[in-house]
Amino acid sequence: MSAVSSAVEMFDLDTAAADLALAAIAGLGSAPKTLPCKLFYDKRGSELFDRICTLPEYYPTRTEVGILRDRIDSIVEAVGPKVQLVELGSGSSIKTRILLDALLDPVAYAPVDISREHLWESAERIHRDYPSLQVQAVCADYTEPFGIPDPRRTPARRVAFFPGSTIGNFDEDEARRFLRRIADIVGVGGGLLIGVDLRKSEEVMVAAYDDAQGVTAEFNLNVLHRLNREAGADFAVDQFEHRSIWNRELGRIEMHLVSRVEQSVEIAGQRFDFAAGEAVQTESAYKYGLEQFAAIADGFRVERVWHDSEWRFSVQYLVVEDEPADQRPGMSAASG
Ligand code: TRP
Repeated sequence: MSAVSSAVEMFDLDTAAADLALAAIAGLGSAPKTLPCKLFYDKRGSELFDRICTLPEYYPTRTEVGILRDRIDSIVEAVGPKVQLVELGSGSSIKTRILLDALLDPVAYAPVDISREHLWESAERIHRDYPSLQVQAVCADYTEPFGIPDPRRTPARRVAFFPGSTIGNFDEDEARRFLRRIADIVGVGGGLLIGVDLRKSEEVMVAAYDDAQGVTAEFNLNVLHRLNREAGADFAVDQFEHRSIWNRELGRIEMHLVSRVEQSVEIAGQRFDFAAGEAVQTESAYKYGLEQFAAIADGFRVERVWHDSEWRFSVQYLVVEDEPADQRPGMSAASG
């Protein structure tokens, strides 16, 4: 898998998430240069991210938790009793517990996470604290197709939970496709409880990704440290700097690593040249208006929207509606 075309490398990047060098080479070989956001979450990265969530500038976590706490009765009423709760990612134990503490007779909890160790630990903790709840951990990359096991008891519906505005980290087309797949997984009558960050003043959004203490900068630069440690790269990390910008045209925050000087870097025997001031994009975070988000929620209808008093963040409940009869598989056979 060395000198393959960039199209094939990009394809491999998703199926071989563990192959750091390959993923980095594919991204740095594209123009403009990118690095995949999956590189953020090693042990150190996960610790730094936990710190980001408590920073004064990083409003999303605090605001979302506040909405969940304040509106939990209304949320539980919308979601209904006896659900199989499918959490996409298993990193948000506070948010999960707010739900599990209030849901009426939940049938089972299925966290889906790519990090087996992290998944195992959080699933164990939930099992310990909710001993009568069936916990079915699914180790999978939820950006790829995956299946969910049926629980012992029959649920009234499947409801996916996707907090943290992680949906904003997908490009719009990816987000559409992703939501379409989640709609298929929860099925007709199923739902999705999702955290969606909203558009607001540029200063507030930019600061959330460029805090005064420099934790986000450290988090972003950790990607280069990680490639040095695990993929045999030789980044001079102090010759790169963190940058967060608002891309007004695309409606997203972009995280960059900017080369301070002209330099070259080697990864697994491949060399990449950087101009002084050249940027590598590591992440984007789209910020949506309510109508704009409803328009990309393919396969779903937005049933409820909860938000904080300043309209910074929203928690939304989306439901899968029955397809029109003429598109339903089996209908033509039944009528023919
Ligand atoms: N889903 C989070 C967000 O977009 C992830 C995140 C927070 C993040 N801070 C970051 C990703 C900094 C990369 C860099 O808000």
